[in-house]
Amino acid sequence: MRDVEEFHRQAVEKLRAEVKGPVIVAASGGIDSTLAALLAQEAFGARSHALFVDNGLLRAGEVERVHRYFTDSHLAYELLRASERFLGALAGVVDPEEKRRRIGEAFIRLFEEEATKRGAEVLIQGTIAPDWIESGGQLRDTIKTHHNVGGVPANVRVRIVEPLRDLYKDEIRLLAHHLKVPEPDRQPFPGPGLAVRVNGPVDPEMLELCRASNAIVEEEVERAVAEKRMPRPWQYFAVVLPVRTVGVTGDNRIFGHAVSVRVVESVDAMTATAMALPPAVLRSIAERITRTLPGRVTRVLYDVTDKPPATIEWE
Ligand code: XMP
Repeated sequence: MRDVEEFHRQAVEKLRAEVKGPVIVAASGGIDSTLAALLAQEAFGARSHALFVDNGLLRAGEVERVHRYFTDSHLAYELLRASERFLGALAGVVDPEEKRRRIGEAFIRLFEEEATKRGAEVLIQGTIAPDWIESGGQLRDTIKTHHNVGGVPANVRVRIVEPLRDLYKDEIRLLAHHLKVPEPDRQPFPGPGLAVRVNGPVDPEMLELCRASNAIVEEEVERAVAEKRMPRPWQYFAVVLPVRTVGVTGDNRIFGHAVSVRVVESVDAMTATAMALPPAVLRSIAERITRTLPGRVTRVLYDVTDKPPATIEWE
């Protein structure tokens, strides 16, 4: 991208030239797909339908947060509630790549149905360059199948158009600034959501533990950042492990779950360093998680592994 104004003008022109008729846009609430949706809204007006899916794998408060973000960005959108469909597709699945494949497929099938309802033949996605590079789009091995790339099944009944596919994150920031889209003050969040943070089979019970623990990690880290007790990390979250572990409350011996906390520093997510958290922050995270989920989470661990060798997400 040489010039952001030129990119903007050409992207809208190209969309109009390439696509006739109504379109749907997969809008996740992240900055990339918000920009793609705004370009489509500009190109097609009311014939562009931005769709935000509640797949049951979102963080606490996410639907409300995304609503505010789209409203601030002047993006019209519709919310699709589809938790049951996604949790059904994930039932009993352990392998992380299989989780991503099933989530990718569930998204595509849902979008196909929504496209048919609206007479649209095109699905616009906010894929950017690192998404397809990490999914093995070049000569590299597939590290992880990003749900919006490798997770797309072969027989798709909509044509996928990706107006941002050649851009990198720094160019996305320029475009966001140009289109007056506020930078989300949020950390990155993976497309497959909490499904890759419940290590092992995903079910409502494990999701609830993950969502509640994750909200506590976010609150405690954000509070410590606001109080200047630590720098803002790249990512900070909780993972529920498929491990049961003994705890004790009063006279009772309990057998609960283990939660691991991950907080990393990074520049581009290609490499990352486990952050040395102030002991008081670690302590209040552990104390709040076990107090909020009594008898259900009996142990809280801190992940001290860098990337490489570990990836940022556990799955
Ligand atoms: P890893 O875990 O590979 O993550 O070190 C690098 C960055 O990518 C995010 N991530 C994903 N984002 N779909 C996404 O859209 C995915 O399947 C996915 N997996 C990981 C991760 O949160 C981190 O920021």
